[in-house]
Amino acid sequence: MFAMSTPFAYTLDSIQERIEGLTPTSRRLSSLRGQFLDSRAFDAQLAQGDPVLYEYYPVHRPEVAGELFSGLTTLYPGTVGGEYFMTKGHFHALLETGEIYSCLSGQGKLVMETPEGTWQVTDMSPGVVVYIPPRWAHRTVNTGPNKFSFFWVCPADAGHDYGSIERQGFRKRVVEQNGSPTLIDNPHWLPPAQRV
Ligand SMILES: [Fe+2]
Repeated sequence: MFAMSTPFAYTLDSIQERIEGLTPTSRRLSSLRGQFLDSRAFDAQLAQGDPVLYEYYPVHRPEVAGELFSGLTTLYPGTVGGEYFMTKGHFHALLETGEIYSCLSGQGKLVMETPEGTWQVTDMSPGVVVYIPPRWAHRTVNTGPNKFSFFWVCPADAGHDYGSIERQGFRKRVVEQNGSPTLIDNPHWLPPAQRV
């Protein structure tokens, strides 16, 4: 819908949490099999239905150096076995590329880590912009009672590496304890030297 080589504009609707004129791509619970710590709770929840965990509105551009890939993601509220709904999370295939996340609505956390296991978790609420440096994997988690949406932009040739995260998850997980979001260690996480 957008011109290939001339400036263009689009409208972020932070009330409806969508980009006007675009059709979202949905990720359902079933697409995150193996990502939540409590697999029995995951299976029990999936037996009741396969809800949408998040939707994203990608503004595609040619995947070449110099172009920018941007969009809006809306993550729904909920938990699986006490662990908050989250995105799949990824490194960039071109590891040396960064990204900007800017919160539009709701409350959440941005979970990040390097291939070496250095980690950081940053709170997000409307107005908060997070600069994700090159080499840092990133996953968002909705810790609030409402939808959590954010705008993002990265190099269009960055690509996605989901596999590294799918194998063992991030070092830190965000769970509800006594009604509050709490960080816990991921028991499946291993330092690089111990991975097979
Ligand atoms: Fe990214």
